[in-house]
Amino acid sequence: MKNTILILIFVSIFCLHGNCSRIFAVFMFPSVSHQVIFQPIWKELSLRGHQVTVVTPNPLKDQSLTNLTEIDISFTYKLPEIVGVLNSVGQKPTLVQKMLSIFELNMLVFESEMKSQAIQEIIQRQNDKYDLVLLQYSHFANVMLPFAYKFNAPAVGISSLGVFLHARDDIGNPTHPVISPDYILGISGNMSFVERLKCFLYNLWYRALYYFYFLPRGDAIARTYFGDDMPYLGKLAKNLSLLLVSANPIIHTPTPNVPNIIEINQLHIKEKKPLPKDLQEFLDGSPQGAIYFSLGSNMKSVNLSSTLRKEITTALAELPYNVIWKWEDDHLADKPDNVLIKKWLPQQDILGHPNIKAFITQGGLQSIEEAIINEVPLVGIPFFSDQPSNMRKIEEQGIGRMIDYASLTKEKLKSAVIEVSQNKKYKENIKRCKSILVDQPTRGVDKAVWWIEYVLKHKGARHLRSPAADMSFFEYLMLDVISFLVMIIIIASYGFYKLIMSVKKALSVRKIKKS
Ligand SMILES: *[C@@H]1O[C@H](CO)[C@@H](O)[C@H](O)[C@H]1NC(C)=O
Ligand SMILES: *[C@@H]1O[C@H](CO)[C@@H](O)[C@H](O)[C@H]1NC(C)=O
Ligand SMILES: *[C@@H]1O[C@H](CO)[C@@H](O)[C@H](O)[C@H]1NC(C)=O
Ligand SMILES: *[C@@H]1O[C@H](CO)[C@@H](O)[C@H](O)[C@H]1NC(C)=O
Repeated sequence: MKNTILILIFVSIFCLHGNCSRIFAVFMFPSVSHQVIFQPIWKELSLRGHQVTVVTPNPLKDQSLTNLTEIDISFTYKLPEIVGVLNSVGQKPTLVQKMLSIFELNMLVFESEMKSQAIQEIIQRQNDKYDLVLLQYSHFANVMLPFAYKFNAPAVGISSLGVFLHARDDIGNPTHPVISPDYILGISGNMSFVERLKCFLYNLWYRALYYFYFLPRGDAIARTYFGDDMPYLGKLAKNLSLLLVSANPIIHTPTPNVPNIIEINQLHIKEKKPLPKDLQEFLDGSPQGAIYFSLGSNMKSVNLSSTLRKEITTALAELPYNVIWKWEDDHLADKPDNVLIKKWLPQQDILGHPNIKAFITQGGLQSIEEAIINEVPLVGIPFFSDQPSNMRKIEEQGIGRMIDYASLTKEKLKSAVIEVSQNKKYKENIKRCKSILVDQPTRGVDKAVWWIEYVLKHKGARHLRSPAADMSFFEYLMLDVISFLVMIIIIASYGFYKLIMSVKKALSVRKIKKS
């Protein structure tokens, strides 16, 4: 108790000098691949002397981080819906089904977290003061925004993958339907007419769905936990100070961004560590080459259908390479002799081994960055989220091949792996991509933290705010201006017509008089 008081006194003296701030962060979604992007940010902020309280399903649990308080919500990983959705591979949902299920899942996770004792305690406490609220801003995680209102603090959103259209609207970014389509469409680069039509219609459809259904529902749900006096959720979203979005120059199409959208990447890239002994020996003992195979942290290889698994195992068995497969079980039926299975693997360090020839991946953003940095060509089997559009870019860049899981066969997988491993083109292209990706003025985490401290220093970033954030759709699309001009043209044309008619009439009257 005495210690706590001493620390509190120390902290408040320190804070008075403006060197540290109190930050509340909530990264709500249970997915390792999202959380690994946020972890270095909250860690770095705490190391720089800020008092950080973070709500996360993946706490670092590092005792040496004395300025960090982590509120563990890892129970969300066990929600049956989370387990179910992430394993529901095999069906190809339509865009509508995808959107609805992503939304419902977000609301479900949100509600279960808000009901938890840890968060209830935070809501109930009246005297907590924070200078900044950080929150996950992918999908529909903006339902956590009322925390910024509760603490009367500026809000910064961070997305570990792209964002949907509404997040760009929130910050007032003019978003061209065909130049910056949402990743969920899986369309990018040079588009056909049909694709452009699809992007255009998506823009209208998504906005209708979001503003007339998702946002009001999100607001109603948030209200039951934060109380009825909170402003409309859409209004809180318009008050977002800054948006940090994961994007990199290799797999994302360059997009026009307003100054308070900051692109970040490579946050999760770690210093190289030595491999565990068994893996080191396995890879050293594979001079002919080895393949690394992992479907990431969300998609479990054990949950692949048995037909898919059989095609894959027979393909792997016929490869002239050894294989390390992240297989989340002790036993793999018909495990080929050249395959080593493990439930968990140090992916970045494996990819760094010189004998690795190719990486079979689900095509997640983080895995792709790791592959590029280690110059390992890819074979992608995308399943959901941004994976299909990421893999499309990978093919365009000539650094990997994509296989549709629904039509995956032994032959297709085998020939793709052999192609990317043996055709020198892939290695050359990925070297070129790496030199572009790593050519940055600062580390990703330093950039993110610099911008967060910028918002702290200026108590928000209103001076960066795009006027588009405060415009109605009528004003933004200039419908009022266009209608006004059309009206002028109509009135002028009518006037002109009347004038011609009266001149004509006058002339004909004179003619009659003359005759
Ligand atoms: C904790 O914050 C203080 C300033 O408040 C700073 O001097 C110290 O280095 C930080 N310690 C750690 C371990 O992050
Ligand atoms: C908007 O954000 C500022 C801080 O940037 C805060 O002071 C203000 O209360 C917020 N307004 C609403 C409606 O949340
Ligand atoms: C897109 O079109 C341009 C111009 O036709 C071409 O130079 C470019 O290579 C194309 N990009 C891709 C990814 O096909
Ligand atoms: C996924 O695999 C795990 C481990 O074998 C199993 O417990 C779980 O029920 C599977 N889930 C689905 C949806 O098949």
